[in-house]
Amino acid sequence: MSPAIRPIITRDQIQTRLLELAAQLNKDYASQQLILIAVLKGVFIFLADLIRLLDMPVRVDFVRLRSYGTSSTSSGSVEITKDVELSIRGQHVLIVEDIIDSGLTLEYLVRHLQKQEPRSLKICCLTDKLERRTLSVPLDYVGFVVEKGFLVGYGLDYAEDYRQYPDICELEL
Ligand code: IMP
Ligand code: MG
Repeated sequence: MSPAIRPIITRDQIQTRLLELAAQLNKDYASQQLILIAVLKGVFIFLADLIRLLDMPVRVDFVRLRSYGTSSTSSGSVEITKDVELSIRGQHVLIVEDIIDSGLTLEYLVRHLQKQEPRSLKICCLTDKLERRTLSVPLDYVGFVVEKGFLVGYGLDYAEDYRQYPDICELEL
């Protein structure tokens, strides 16, 4: 039997929140060049919607990290499977993530990017999921705070399925 899927954040709520986030970013980085480092794969829809609301000159790069495999629980270890290709030294950098759960992936990525000495390094995530946070990483821009649950849709997957759903949904496993 397929699992129950319940929308918890609608496409309209996402669009409204994105306008607010973009307004804040446009203010904070006014006229500065910004490099967005997007974490594949779940972030692709959030990134595509957000970037078109930004006014400052923007460059984009992608990283991919492995910590989850295809299950819904973290394996506890992180490795980079696709690294940044642009030079970020001396640049303003914003990590763009779909969801922060334990914080392991993000903490690893922050340490990795800091080695290249960006001028600034901040974090923008669509959803901040609190329940399983073990490593606390300061988040600068947060779309939505969610207490718990496994979320799919708007780019988020469960074992690679459900990414195309326009709303953020809770998967009842
Ligand atoms: P963390 O390292 O535990 O913070 O997990 C980070 C990554 O796990 C996220 O970037 C997602 O790719 C994935 N993840 C965590 N929670 C969820 C969820 O509820 N739905 C889909 N993916 C998730
Ligand atoms: Mg991710």
